[in-house]
Amino acid sequence: MQEKVQWVREDPKNRLVFWPTEEMKKKAWVSDESIYTKAAEDPVAFWAQRAKEGLEWFEPWKEAYIWKPPFYKWFVDGKINAAYNSLDRHIKTWRKNKAAIIWEPEPVNQQKRVLTYFDLYRKVCKFANVLKGLGVERGDRVGIYLPMIPEVQIAMLACARIGAPHSVVFSAFSGESLRNRMKDAEANVLVTADGYYRRGKGIDLKTNADIGAENTSIEHVVVVKRTGADVSMSEGRDHWWHKLMAKAPLHCDPEPMDSEDPLFILYTSGTTGKPKGIIHDTGGYSTVAYWTSKWDFDLHDEDIFWCTADIGWITGHTYACYGPLLNGATSLIYEGAPNYPEVDRWWQIVEKYGVTIFYTAPTAIRMILRWGEEWLKKHDLSSIRLLGSVGEPINQDAWMWYFKNVGGGRCPIIDTWWQTETGATLINALPGIGPFIPTVAGRSFPGTKHDIYDETGNPVEIGEGGYLVQKSPFAPGMLRGVYKDPDRYRAQYWSVYGDEAYYTSDGAIWWDESGNIRLTGRVDDVMKVAGHRMSTAEVENALTQHSSVAECAVVAAPHDIKGEVPVAFVVLRQGQTPSKDLEAELIQQVVKVIGPTAKPERIVLTDALPKTRSGKIMRRILKALVKGETVGDVTTLMNPEAVEDLKEKVGQ
Ligand code: WTA
Repeated sequence: MQEKVQWVREDPKNRLVFWPTEEMKKKAWVSDESIYTKAAEDPVAFWAQRAKEGLEWFEPWKEAYIWKPPFYKWFVDGKINAAYNSLDRHIKTWRKNKAAIIWEPEPVNQQKRVLTYFDLYRKVCKFANVLKGLGVERGDRVGIYLPMIPEVQIAMLACARIGAPHSVVFSAFSGESLRNRMKDAEANVLVTADGYYRRGKGIDLKTNADIGAENTSIEHVVVVKRTGADVSMSEGRDHWWHKLMAKAPLHCDPEPMDSEDPLFILYTSGTTGKPKGIIHDTGGYSTVAYWTSKWDFDLHDEDIFWCTADIGWITGHTYACYGPLLNGATSLIYEGAPNYPEVDRWWQIVEKYGVTIFYTAPTAIRMILRWGEEWLKKHDLSSIRLLGSVGEPINQDAWMWYFKNVGGGRCPIIDTWWQTETGATLINALPGIGPFIPTVAGRSFPGTKHDIYDETGNPVEIGEGGYLVQKSPFAPGMLRGVYKDPDRYRAQYWSVYGDEAYYTSDGAIWWDESGNIRLTGRVDDVMKVAGHRMSTAEVENALTQHSSVAECAVVAAPHDIKGEVPVAFVVLRQGQTPSKDLEAELIQQVVKVIGPTAKPERIVLTDALPKTRSGKIMRRILKALVKGETVGDVTTLMNPEAVEDLKEKVGQ
């Protein structure tokens, strides 16, 4: 039994502060505080050392870091392959027969699957040959639209092996969302499945995949048989995964990629209606995926690491696929819902496999908390030794509950702040060093530097809040651009404070003199809905495509469990009659165009939106209304009466 994480003091701000136990310190890969100062003395040398120690390179790099604002490169001219580093080097060791992936299906009467490193290696090589057979060449983009089944990792690593950047699209996104992404990525091949299980039901994925492939450059669709549902296969275009795999040659040499070559593109929401394709490189990303997995989660060979995020999001990419596999660790993935067949499914899985590291989102913790402790008490959770949190700020109640009930008071909580753009965690406490402070993520990862600026770009004092930025040298896993859109890259990240500071769009507070940072949430129109990143503009786009909508504005409203939810204010076209049915139809419209994660919590039908005299919608007012705050000055409005009407409608 591990001794409890020591409660050390109540600090002057009246908050709890936890420090690692002696046992944690002894076990941890890093437990010496000086790592921060040493790395800061020469961050480039620090990262170069990490890249050398953690990964196998086919050829060394010529220069570790080049910064030509707003672009930077790492490990320039180095040759590397991410799949080789995730597989080939492990199968030469005792890890050959170690579990790489443990997969738990949702239906309780179906068998788990365990893929050893060697199994995974074989399948990845074969699928790499399948892709080649379909004409995929180095540099071509491959779409992956798969549920949480091992084929998702197999497909990603097969792409990495042949140097074809993958673009994974979350399986709960709609066919239309998939199509927009496939069009932008100009992919020729899409990998999908017939369906998957969710809350006991077989969900059809193939129909969505067909919508997604329509009117795009996709020539081949590879379909994994998961549910066995009867799906239509388009002659010449669609192929069954198992049939192609049966004929595929065994061996496939890993492509020696340039370190700066893209490993993948992942679309994420920005402040406009169009998602942006975030580009991640090969060498830098692999370096941070490796080291953050190892140090943040204190990942050891005997661990079972369960990151509950879907692979369609960056968290799944880095901590359910690349990070653990680069480390030769065991990654557990689960296909279905946390509450199927009962709300203790997650704890049943923890018990079944003896999960040691558990990484989830605050929204999930708040949901589980509602369901009650008794569900956790039914299971043996004593294997867990470390907890992680990601995706949104974690409130103190959820933190304490997680600490006490999931961690049994033994386990540190590593609250990791990061973004799709950063590729890997950047701000968090390290398990062997601490401190672990509820609601405070922690310090910048060694070798990285953040600052907090006020509106005018001046650093704020300790105890004050402002906007979080990152300074050069930028972490090696940071984005290398926005796919086909360098202007958006500049405008989004480098225009607010110039070329010297990467703008995160997050609010933050300097917590103390040791560099601890508390994150306070997005400062732009990006919502975090149950931890899922979504832009208000995307939801607006979906709504205005409906024939009865004249105009609309979507804002994020606070929600006890999901953190935030979209609320849509809609003005109908002339002749349209407001009704509950129409509201329901509009909600369905969003589900159809984007997917269920973007579903508005509420549609407020109104005659007018509050506007300035120049005709701009005053979102500030709508935000205040949904938050139950006072609306403030409305004298500059063209139509102040609209506000009174809206107040009544939202019940203010
Ligand atoms: C938010 C998810 C507070 C933040 C990895 C960021 C967090 C956005 C935390 C990125 C955290 C993520 N504490 N806020 N520990 N982690 N965020 O791209 O607002 O889906 O900008 O990446 O999530 O969301 P994304």
